[in-house]
Amino acid sequence: MKKILVTGGAGYIGSHCVVELVKSGFQPIIIDDFSNASPATLQNVFDLCGREIPVITGDCSDEVLLRTVFKAHEFEGVIHFAAFKAVGESVEHPIKYYQNNLNGVLSVVKMMEEFGVQKLVFSSSCTVYGTPTGSVKVTEETPLGVPNSPYGWTKLMAEQIIKDVAKNGKIKAVLLRYFNPIGAHESGKIGELPVGVPNNIVPYMTQTAAGIREQLTVFGSDYQTTDGTCLRDFIHVTDLAIAHIAAINLELDKEIEIINIGTGKGTSVLELISAFEEVTGKSLNWKFGPRRAGDVEAIFAEVEKAHKILNWSAKRGVKKAIEDSWRWEQYRLKHEVV
Ligand code: UD1
Repeated sequence: MKKILVTGGAGYIGSHCVVELVKSGFQPIIIDDFSNASPATLQNVFDLCGREIPVITGDCSDEVLLRTVFKAHEFEGVIHFAAFKAVGESVEHPIKYYQNNLNGVLSVVKMMEEFGVQKLVFSSSCTVYGTPTGSVKVTEETPLGVPNSPYGWTKLMAEQIIKDVAKNGKIKAVLLRYFNPIGAHESGKIGELPVGVPNNIVPYMTQTAAGIREQLTVFGSDYQTTDGTCLRDFIHVTDLAIAHIAAINLELDKEIEIINIGTGKGTSVLELISAFEEVTGKSLNWKFGPRRAGDVEAIFAEVEKAHKILNWSAKRGVKKAIEDSWRWEQYRLKHEVV
């Protein structure tokens, strides 16, 4: 079985990817420091995988630790998820973000070079496009913009680090630029575990419907969009996880391949709320509030390249994602998963 190192493999996207890797016949090895993941759901990951998965508890920017991991296993490739991802927190604590996210990627590529592991798949984000000046449907050729937060800058800078390292021919990388990942595994047993008050919209919605939060605030009603609210490309986390399998299997004929991972469709915040109410049969308590600083009015993915190169496209829509997120929220409440 081909071994894949999955940094951040206990986290939201990482854990879904681990399940898909096992389904596709790979042996994932997880390294995670559990700073934003719960050991409580690891057993569920194992249950979904049908077996236990090796887990190294630690920080992937710890070179000494990482070296022992690379010594112990012969990896076919690395999928690097481990990073902090809260936009607002990154504005308050930029050093924490630059240190963690950049040291992480640096250690990973250094070990890959040292041990001759060629294939890297990196979690990037549509935040690297900043506020698109042309079409809001962005292609991989759309010029990079000014990210709206230190978090966004760490993604842009990590991309640059990987591009520079790949120039020496020792590593080859697929940079996956995610749009807005939402949803949960359809079993309802793994999903996103926001720490404290959620920043992202779907966890805020499910927590409001569950009575944990009182009311959802929709940030802004006067954007130049069909209904005045922001437009995003919401992608189901399982579809996103499957895109990583296609990326790890890709025979790269060049050093770097950059691919947008989205549905290609924009959904407004109000449309998302309607979908939530329709799917769950619950009426959501929400109100309009002022715009949130740093929000991009509208952005969604051109997904032609993902289709052509990875032979991948999103199969699950927004309603399916909400249904699964809601199942996960209820599971969490019942089993007190925190
Ligand atoms: C941003 C980044 C994304 C990154 C993610 C990490 C952009 C375009 N996207 O997503 O690349 O991976 O952060 O967290 O920069 N909203 C509300 N009320 C809420 C929460 C959100 O109305 O309580 C609205 C926001 O204003 C936004 C939409 O919902 O219009 C989505 O917000 P969110 O889920 O936070 O994701 P982004 O900010 O789009």
